[in-house]
Amino acid sequence: MSNEDKLQSLIDRRKKAELGGGQKRIDSQHQKGKLTARERLVKLFDENSFNEIDPFINHRSKDLGLDQNIIDGDSVITGYGKIEGKKVFAYSQDFTVLGGSLSLVAGQKIAKVMDLALKTGSPIVGINDSGGARIQEGIDSLAGYGEIFEKNTLASGVIPQISIISGPAAGGATYSPALTDFIFMVDGIGQMYITGPDVVKSVTGEEISHDELGGATTHASKSGVSHFVASDENDCFDQVKTLLSFLPSNNSEKPQNRNYDKNSYEIDEELNNIIPEESNKPYDVLEIIEKIVDENFFFQVQELFAQNIIVGLARISGKVVGIVANQANKLAGMLDIDASAKASRFVRFCDSFNIPIITLVDVPGFMPGTQQEYNGIIRHGAKLLYAYVEATVPKISIILRKAYGGAYIVMGSKHLRGDINYAWPSAEIAVMGPEGAVNIINRKDISNSENPEDKKNELVDNYRNQFANPYIAANRGYIDDVINPSETRQKIISSLEMLENKVDSLPPKKHGNIPL
Ligand code: HXC
Repeated sequence: MSNEDKLQSLIDRRKKAELGGGQKRIDSQHQKGKLTARERLVKLFDENSFNEIDPFINHRSKDLGLDQNIIDGDSVITGYGKIEGKKVFAYSQDFTVLGGSLSLVAGQKIAKVMDLALKTGSPIVGINDSGGARIQEGIDSLAGYGEIFEKNTLASGVIPQISIISGPAAGGATYSPALTDFIFMVDGIGQMYITGPDVVKSVTGEEISHDELGGATTHASKSGVSHFVASDENDCFDQVKTLLSFLPSNNSEKPQNRNYDKNSYEIDEELNNIIPEESNKPYDVLEIIEKIVDENFFFQVQELFAQNIIVGLARISGKVVGIVANQANKLAGMLDIDASAKASRFVRFCDSFNIPIITLVDVPGFMPGTQQEYNGIIRHGAKLLYAYVEATVPKISIILRKAYGGAYIVMGSKHLRGDINYAWPSAEIAVMGPEGAVNIINRKDISNSENPEDKKNELVDNYRNQFANPYIAANRGYIDDVINPSETRQKIISSLEMLENKVDSLPPKKHGNIPL
């Protein structure tokens, strides 16, 4: 064979491999409203930057007719390239090849790029669209999954791992995404469940659609499994790019800070009047966040889940920060099980990747009730305490209004290794709210009074005036300063600069035992 023929043979083989399961199945993929695995990579990566690895790999199975069904590259495309200039590894499951089902070699292909991502300290994005374990391969397919789970776990906290669900992800296939840092689900085409609607019906008798059981909205709002919902695949890739733009490539780098001097030290007078004078009146903490961050741009994570706490990424004077804020207009900003789990995972993510944490506090306490107690609010709430104490990144917290009891301690207080703790003049910092306190310590005074209602109001007013303010905590140094709300951004910028080279550590240990 001449050199020219050899070259032509390579071109032909590559062309054939690029067709995956063939034009008919590509058309079927499009008819389902889905892009192909290759189209997805083209959209995700900078133009012509993607380098494929293992395009000619073949499975070696013979059972159940598989020896007649061999396609170069098998059911996943893997490789690396640049996303907005940043080196990123990726895999994209090819549904046109045996439904994207995971063979042993497909698992090994994915594991190979995960290894390279880990060795080179680069983020990895997995695009999932698969019928799960390749049934004909049996246990070999499970071995492929096992290898991926192992790599996901070892890479956790070392490189950012992002999952996109743009097709089915059933059974064990859900667990690789679940081990990654963030899951994006594409509305209408992405579904995740341990067992599908048919099994659910036969076991529990419930009748439910694929989407209701495991669609994007379900996992974004009910289970909290996913972090982002995309309206379509293009929207999904845009959101992934935005997320990546904040993150460092690995845990030894700083996040992607930017130069920013425009209006850095701007005073915002509106912040002085944003908290209602009535202590129980709700307001939207997002308005405060947007006034504090650069370009008013806040990239919210898990927006639809546990909306009583808000978490997300932003920049302040160009520096990437993670923001955790109680949302006063949802359940009065109380901490419940879901809010605790959501915030603690986010705090740990930020700490893993050197992202300072800004906490905005307005929390009346932990949510009472049997539903919360029976489901373990104690151990879930403890996660948040644990996460804040363990975090060694710069931690700045600002008490906007209420900070009562255990919830005061948990929300990034000085007592949990907070670095800078500010309060607004509207802050109420005490062991419990005035009503609750008076009902306990003045019960007899109230019931013995001629007019119990008036007596109670008087006692509540006294308590509020005496204790529900920031100055007792400031007297003790638990609050570093009571600041003018309009200067909040300026104070955060100065604190971030001051804490730039902060070093803190944990006692030597194999790993802690976070209350899971
Ligand atoms: C082998 C599979 C496959 C699988 C689909 N295909 N799933 N081949 N192993 N797991 C093949 C089909 O035979 C078909 O081949 C092609 O992929 C497309 O599948 P369709 O069924 O035609 O597509 P669609 O109608 O869109 O339905 C998609 C689907 C369905 C919902 C994913 O295929 C399905 O239910 N698949 C099985 C899901 C499942 O139970 N997987 C095993 C889970 S157990 P042709 O040649 O006709 O194109 C598991 C354990 C993992 O994953 C544990 C890890 C720890």
